[in-house]
Amino acid sequence: MPVNDPVVAEQTPAADHTIDQCWDRYSEEEHGVWNTLYDRQMKVLKGRAAPEHFKGLELLNLNDGGIPDFRKVNEKLYALTGWQVVTVHGLIPNDVFFNHLANRRFVSGRFIRDADKLDYLPEPDIFHDVFGHVPLLTLPAFADYMQAYGQGGEKAMKVDMIENLTRLYWYTVEFGLINTPEGRRIYGAGIVSSQSESRFCLEGRSPNRIHFDLERIMRTDYRYDDFQQTYFVIDSYEELMESTANVDFGPIYERLKGLPDYKASEVLPSDKVYHEGTQEYAKAGGLE
Ligand code: PHE
Ligand code: FE
Repeated sequence: MPVNDPVVAEQTPAADHTIDQCWDRYSEEEHGVWNTLYDRQMKVLKGRAAPEHFKGLELLNLNDGGIPDFRKVNEKLYALTGWQVVTVHGLIPNDVFFNHLANRRFVSGRFIRDADKLDYLPEPDIFHDVFGHVPLLTLPAFADYMQAYGQGGEKAMKVDMIENLTRLYWYTVEFGLINTPEGRRIYGAGIVSSQSESRFCLEGRSPNRIHFDLERIMRTDYRYDDFQQTYFVIDSYEELMESTANVDFGPIYERLKGLPDYKASEVLPSDKVYHEGTQEYAKAGGLE
């Protein structure tokens, strides 16, 4: 739990782990951090983020001045796709997370990073959660994908395959790229909310860029605390939906149980490769 947010610390969460956002209690400084990050990201995301991301930011009016008030965001979001944003303490158990998604509730932290540490994030803050994730929830195909993922999580828990399913989330929801007529773009929230990775993932020589492949992704390790070594690219949100929600993962999980994992940097003969990375960034030691 973030120690720097007393409004979080003083609350006892409900059974579903939610707390109140207490929007009226954000300080001017906290609102200022949102504005700074928002402006900074809009500059770097121009020509890099997927058009649906910008559209979502606009539809939800996430640039209203300061940290968004979930009461206002939810009015708009619910009308569009039936989704809502709820506040939680911090990291929550998998089953609680899946249950929220399956019921079209996206969980967000309340706290925002410190003004003097804009690039340092020990755990996801409200800027990552809201600026990064929530805009795409205005898009019906993606909204459906997220709900299906939540339902899939409940199923994966029963057969002890959470790690494999988490990789799918990681390489799509957090770090996904998409081909558009204007070029390759970012839709993953982990990238969209990061100034440096926004450039690295698209223009960097270091990482691989490979076409989306469900089973391959479910076998691939990822970097938890540094830039990814591989990014997976979809052609459309419909492709993502069709190759996941419309597929029964049961037999895939069975198959995967006997198979070894791939390293985060690996390129396979079966991959449709857009760019084979030099991995020079990771080889030099990554973030230090
Ligand atoms: N179809 C998957 C299953 O059978 C569930 C799922 C849907 C997982 C969408 C991820 C994304 O388990
Ligand atoms: Fe996230």
